[in-house]
Order: sequence, then C-alpha cells, then structure tokens
Amino acid sequence: MVIAIDGPAGSGKSTIAREIARRLGFYFLNTGSFYRAYALNQLERNGDPRDSDSVLENAKKINLSIENGNICIDGRNVEDRLRTPEVDKYSSIVSVDPRLREYVNQQVRLIAKGMDIVTEGRDTTTVIFPDAEYKFYFDASPEVRAERRLKEHPDGPSYEEVLKAIVERDRNDMQKAVGALKKAETAIYIDTTYLTINQVCEKVEKAIEI
Ligand code: DC
Repeated sequence: MVIAIDGPAGSGKSTIAREIARRLGFYFLNTGSFYRAYALNQLERNGDPRDSDSVLENAKKINLSIENGNICIDGRNVEDRLRTPEVDKYSSIVSVDPRLREYVNQQVRLIAKGMDIVTEGRDTTTVIFPDAEYKFYFDASPEVRAERRLKEHPDGPSYEEVLKAIVERDRNDMQKAVGALKKAETAIYIDTTYLTINQVCEKVEKAIEI
C-alpha cells in the first residue's frame, strides 16, 4: 500500500509522513532526499548545479541507496549534509530537469515495489504514485512554514531570509514544466497552519481508517 503526501516546504510532510509510517509500521520514503543528494553530489564535485547536463551526468556516476532510513552516495551516509541552506536551494534547481525527475521517479518506484510505504514530496501524488491508495496535500501559510524552518535551524539564516527563500522555492517548485507542485484532484487537502503534529496525524489516520 502507498500513502503519498504532497505539499510545499515546511507544510509538515516529512514530520507527519515519518510519524504515520512509525504508527502503521510502514516504510518511510522521502523523495526530496534524492534531489538533495544529487545537488550535494554536484556541489561536492565542484559542478554547476544550474548546468542540468552536468548534474545528470554526475548523477549517473553514483549509486544512491537507502540504508537504515539514511540516504547514501556509493554507500557513504550523507543524510546529515542534506539540510543546509545551500542544498535547500540547489535541490530545487536541479529538480527542474525532467530527465533527472524521471531518473529519480524510476528509482523511487523500484524501491517502493511490493512494500507498504508512506512517501512524501512534491509530485508524489500527481506523477510518481497517481494511483496511491491514499493521497494527501498539506499546506500552511508561508509565515508559519518559515517559523517551523527557523525552529529546526535556530543558528541559521534570519526569519526574513528563511521566508524569502521559502517564497522563492515555492515559485520555483510551482512553475516547473514537469512535476510542478500542485494538488492532485483526488488528494485530501489539510491546512496544517494552526494544527499540532498530533492533530494532523489524527486527521490522516481518520481518513485512512486502517
Ligand atoms: O521535500 P524537500 O524539501 O526535501 O525537497 C527538496 C527539493 O526537491 C524541493 O525544492 C523540491 C524538490 N522535490 C521535487 O521536485 N519532487 C519531489 N518529489 C521531492 C522534492
């Protein structure tokens, strides 16, 4: 069974998807990690993240795997290097290329085959798993999403900078020719702005009734 969650950065997708997976004993699969890992790979090779040919070429040189829930580049756990402001920004840029998107989608579908998973990421309900048994679209105001990010990285950029980056990333993610962030017609919409993590989980659990 596939439970897929879409929505913008900071809407609560990762936190809720991880928690729902834990409660149900399902596998948690974060599709954004793939774009983050390919962006990191490009940066580590001193490549230009805006050069999509080079990003794709370098992506095909490495093997991404998930070990104990951590994403690895050729077996090297890079999970703790994926959430920097630089990787935040460049993951969105590399994810615009339809060829890289198809490459990621193939890998995600392969990993998910025959498993019970909770997956999240922008286009999981529209492109990767349009036939998922349960689809959700989370949303929240940009201000609340910026506050959540700030709490995760208190020593990082200021509130104003985080808010600006979120608005820019939304624009980039919504304007993609392929795999743009949008609500699937059949997805259940949840506005998480004023909800606690537990309240969102309860709404999801009520909707899936398993
Ligand atoms: O969910 P995230 O913030 O970890 O995702 C990082 C970037 O990757 C984000 O800017 C959007 C992009 N992404 C995507 O285009 N499609 C996905 N399925 C997941 C993420």
